[in-house]
Amino acid sequence: MTHAIAQVAYIVATALFIFALHWMNTPATARKGVYAGVAGMTIAVLVTWAQPAVVHHLWIVVAIVAGFAVGVPLANVPLTAVPQRTALSHAFGGLAAGLVGTAKYYLWFSEGPENLTAFRMVAIILEIILGFLTFTGSLMAAGKLQEIKWIPQRPVTYPFQNLSNLLLLLVAAGLGVALTLHPTAPWAPQLFPVIIVLALAFGVLLIIPIGGADMPTVIAILNAYAGLSAVAMGFVLDNKLLITAGALDGSSGLILAIIMCKAMNRSFTNVLFGAFGQVQAAKAIGEQKQYKAETAEGAAQVLEQASLVVIVPGYGMAVAQAQHKVRELYDQLKKRGITVKFAIHPVAGRMPGHMNVLLAEADIPYTDLVEMDEINGDMPQCDVCLVVGANDVVNPAARSDKASPIFGMPIIDADKARTIFAIKRSKNPGFAGIDNELYFADRTWMLFGDAKNVIGELVKQLAGESGMH
Ligand code: TAP
Repeated sequence: MTHAIAQVAYIVATALFIFALHWMNTPATARKGVYAGVAGMTIAVLVTWAQPAVVHHLWIVVAIVAGFAVGVPLANVPLTAVPQRTALSHAFGGLAAGLVGTAKYYLWFSEGPENLTAFRMVAIILEIILGFLTFTGSLMAAGKLQEIKWIPQRPVTYPFQNLSNLLLLLVAAGLGVALTLHPTAPWAPQLFPVIIVLALAFGVLLIIPIGGADMPTVIAILNAYAGLSAVAMGFVLDNKLLITAGALDGSSGLILAIIMCKAMNRSFTNVLFGAFGQVQAAKAIGEQKQYKAETAEGAAQVLEQASLVVIVPGYGMAVAQAQHKVRELYDQLKKRGITVKFAIHPVAGRMPGHMNVLLAEADIPYTDLVEMDEINGDMPQCDVCLVVGANDVVNPAARSDKASPIFGMPIIDADKARTIFAIKRSKNPGFAGIDNELYFADRTWMLFGDAKNVIGELVKQLAGESGMH
């Protein structure tokens, strides 16, 4: 394939990546976005493979087969495990960039000193530091989210942590500068692995002070690092497509991290250095106060009388896979002329867009999904707020309790509704590990049980009653 054709193909692939990101902005076009991304990546791989300089075809086939062998099972994890799956993808991306940088350095070193220009060395050093720290950092993040036993979920802190981490990074960068200035010195090949080890250690140390609740944001930041290491790799390999794809990856990761920080009212530095998620000695309000439990029959009667019902889905709906039953409930209520809206909190569930994906799977119209800021104005007029396995995202402590770890996080004002029904299995807290005053409020009634079963019961009650009319 000629150079010119390859460059044109790369531009087409770049355009497809940009369209992919654009289309993934809304659920209506998201599927098209995924196809565009796949098409762009297929073009990129095939065109690169067809370059005259590529001679080791067997190795490429081996790599593709290995990629499929790992990728296909990874694609089939349940939706609740997607955050850690994404972290694993970033880990592999970082590792690939780090290994390519390492291979290129030793190859050019053996081929002659003139190859190791200052420009290439800077790119290689950035690539290996970012690549290897992304590798271990993402593995740690995936481990925390998967709740692997030997990786502490809670933030692990010790004195001078941030300072020592910063020093470690500075030492790695300093050695990188030394190597850039003297890439062919006799000690250079021995110094190179030292930088790798420091970067690997930095990745681990960066993640251990961060609690599980901040992992999604951290994963988005690691996504940005993986993208930046791909950009550096593009410079090392002189591949423009890699540079643009890496930049898109890096910037979208950064934007996502910023959106998530805003949704949790946290600053970037606070996420990275604040040791959030430290479970404080939870005030055991659950032991002093009483929940009021309600039956499905009683709740169904109240629901029937409502004119506006707001459903707040949360992580529990995902665990119970209750979205299809929720759809049946939606149909029952709509049949009675009741307005039903879904209040979507940006960090409900365990990944960005988690609730949107589940509700779309159950064919609930996008137009009835309302963002937090928009629905909150309607909450005082809401007759019934049905909380389906959500906890932290409706916890009023975020508004009022300065000591709470979620203080300042914007929430859905479920407590302002006239009546609140909350579905959950037990008195256990949510992700942040704290009690929720909403459940003890005068207007709240608990519907204890698995969300799928409880909603199924509600549907049965409503269907039974409509059958009698
Ligand atoms: P959570 O605060 O985690 O609460 C979920 C609730 O669902 C739990 O209290 C649990 O109580 C209940 N539940 C679990 N399984 C259930 C089932 N089968 N049936 C009924 N209820 C069930 O969820 P949330 O309100 O969606 O808040 C999300 C939290 O996760 C936030 O703190 C957020 O910062 C964090 N986070 C978000 C993300 C993203 S990006 N979305 C990623 C990671 C973490 P029981 O055990 O008593 O049933």
